[in-house]
Amino acid sequence: MIKGLIFDLDGVITDTAEYHYLAWKSLAEKLDIEIDREFNEQLKGISRMESLDLILKHGNKEKDYTKEEKQKLAAQKNEEYQQYIEKITHDDLLPGIEALLKEVQERNLKMALASASKNGPKIIRQLEIEDLFKGTVVDPASLNAGKPDPEIFLKGAELLGLDPTECIGLEDAEAGIEAINAAGMFSVGVGSETAMQKANYFVKETKQLKLKDILKQAEK
Ligand code: BG6
Ligand code: MG
Repeated sequence: MIKGLIFDLDGVITDTAEYHYLAWKSLAEKLDIEIDREFNEQLKGISRMESLDLILKHGNKEKDYTKEEKQKLAAQKNEEYQQYIEKITHDDLLPGIEALLKEVQERNLKMALASASKNGPKIIRQLEIEDLFKGTVVDPASLNAGKPDPEIFLKGAELLGLDPTECIGLEDAEAGIEAINAAGMFSVGVGSETAMQKANYFVKETKQLKLKDILKQAEK
């Protein structure tokens, strides 16, 4: 029986996946590296430093920067990203998400947040949903391995006091779906059929995420 839902943040609850993309694209351009949306799919769910490494590799420049220089580049990306998220308000919940969160509460299901983002706490505060995730936000700095490793979702289940099989994970990233599957949870994806190939159930847009349908699929 399902007792909890573990949410990714960027691209599921709010459209920050787009802001990550824009900020990385702008940094990549300064480094003379071209990235497009197709390449960006690989960056979803991946930590800041790992994302930078993938971009540098994509431009054959992985050996051009020292560790310190890479830290500066990642900080530069984060500064631009933070300018975007500064403007986030409650109205920036993606379509259908407010209703979904309400349904989850009404059914007395538990919720946790499994985001790789160190900006996560700030974003949920601005979205005015932090009360829903009291004590159930996994700290990405505490992880030994990022997505696609299952650790972040397993920690989410632990924070909820649930067995992974009692949880559903929701993701927009390929790496995230792999992490949920490896954690032994039912995976729900939001995105294109290609990106969401490995999801146990997927919808194209957040407004199609209905708790009733999700539970029906997961408990089948
Ligand atoms: C994930 C995003 O949620 O967080 C990635 O999907 C991002 O794109 C990662 O790189 C880390 O985010 P931040 O805010 O700590 O740079
Ligand atoms: Mg995401």
